[in-house]
Amino acid sequence: MKKSKKTNGKNYKKIWGLADKRFNTDYFHINKFGELIIREGNYQYNVLNLARKFGSSVEIFMPFIIEERLSHIYKVAQNNIKKMKYKGRFTYHFPLKVNQNKEAMLPLLSEGAHLEVASANQLWIVKKMWMNGNFHSKIKVVCNGAKTADYVKLIVELRNMGLGIIPIIESMEELRTFKGFSGDLGIRVNLKTKVKSHWDKKIDQFGLELDEILELGRIRNLKMLHYHLGSQIMLENDMVQGLREGFEAYKKIRKNCPSLDTLNIGGGHAIPHEKKKLYSVESVLYRIFYNLKKWSEKETIPHPNVVVEWGQYVTGPAQMTVYRIVMSKEIPKGIAKKWYLIDGSFINDLLDTWAIHQKWHVVPVNNIDAPKRHRVWLAGLSCDSDDKYSGDGYLLLPRLEDLEKGEDQYITVFNTGAYQDSFMAHHCFLSSPAKIVLQNGIVSVARKRESPDDVGKFFGW
Ligand SMILES: Cc1ncc(COP(=O)(O)O)c(C=O)c1O
Repeated sequence: MKKSKKTNGKNYKKIWGLADKRFNTDYFHINKFGELIIREGNYQYNVLNLARKFGSSVEIFMPFIIEERLSHIYKVAQNNIKKMKYKGRFTYHFPLKVNQNKEAMLPLLSEGAHLEVASANQLWIVKKMWMNGNFHSKIKVVCNGAKTADYVKLIVELRNMGLGIIPIIESMEELRTFKGFSGDLGIRVNLKTKVKSHWDKKIDQFGLELDEILELGRIRNLKMLHYHLGSQIMLENDMVQGLREGFEAYKKIRKNCPSLDTLNIGGGHAIPHEKKKLYSVESVLYRIFYNLKKWSEKETIPHPNVVVEWGQYVTGPAQMTVYRIVMSKEIPKGIAKKWYLIDGSFINDLLDTWAIHQKWHVVPVNNIDAPKRHRVWLAGLSCDSDDKYSGDGYLLLPRLEDLEKGEDQYITVFNTGAYQDSFMAHHCFLSSPAKIVLQNGIVSVARKRESPDDVGKFFGW
């Protein structure tokens, strides 16, 4: 692209929200050619070169980001425990539903993650990893979700093989199923606290009401009380309010069940998809430990062990998805001027765009310093009029008419490392993006782009 003004790196960083810890973009910078750079310590990767080499659409997965985020959570928790003389333990359980890919789970385990599964098939992954010797038997696995016959069978099998597996009771029927279970049990309580998040359902199908649990009296081997308020909880106060109600339930249930010693507060730590500053791990963990200590001392009960299952927070920022703009079209009547068609699909690759109207942080991969930009709407390659993304009304992206002859414009969507891969679909028989992994300065291919033959297998061809 011909540049009419001298590049001012700092200014463009600000415009695009790069190199900013508040937005989880501290790893992302601009080089002197206006191209997006990823930094891993002193290693660096040029996203444009990666897209040219491996083709697009392509997911770029960065396990070092996962490792740093999880080790930071553990560090902050341990500091609080030490400073406050908190007597309970802190454990992080990774919910597999958030990112079921091997390249995500292995670095999580290496940083000390325990696991949370929600189905028999997810437990099959755990079994496979365990049989491969990927982790030791001290790993604890929390089993949520409805316990089908296959699920129960696998739980019992793994327990008998010595794995620390904790079925979470979600219904009266499950309580009967696990009556003779020899290991620790958990129970899920459905709290009344409602939080500001996409998942603030008035009624949901999970867990038991507190009154129902209290009526059960003593539950043998009950170790963990679990709740989950929702994903992307926007306010720290909502988290603390849920904690308050969760602790009240914990305290009451403990009177019947003295073996209860762990409070699992589920997932929900939000990430700044919308480039707005949110609460930090430091502040929320401080309030969790401070309050649990204060409340339990008031009740003269031991400080509970604390479990968190913050999935999106840890894995979301560890992936970006890169697309090439394959075509542009005028928009005759709209607040945006142009359609930019990407070589992928929002419906297929980034389902939350459509399902929960997710706002994404989108940045050009090249020409980040373009002085002139168009107001655009992005569209995917499927034939669906819902396959589009318009941000907060429109996006401002470099003008294609300013590109050099033969130059392509690429864009990237940040924070795609949570949920989107599990939701991937093949509307219009389109292929899913390829996936590459960056670690220790080395780029490897985790998944090739699907050929029509590969996609055909899903549909009996
Ligand atoms: C029980 C449970 N734990 C943890 C999570 C992860 O939530 P998040 O990714 O928002 O942290 C979920 C998500 O649905 C969940 O249902």
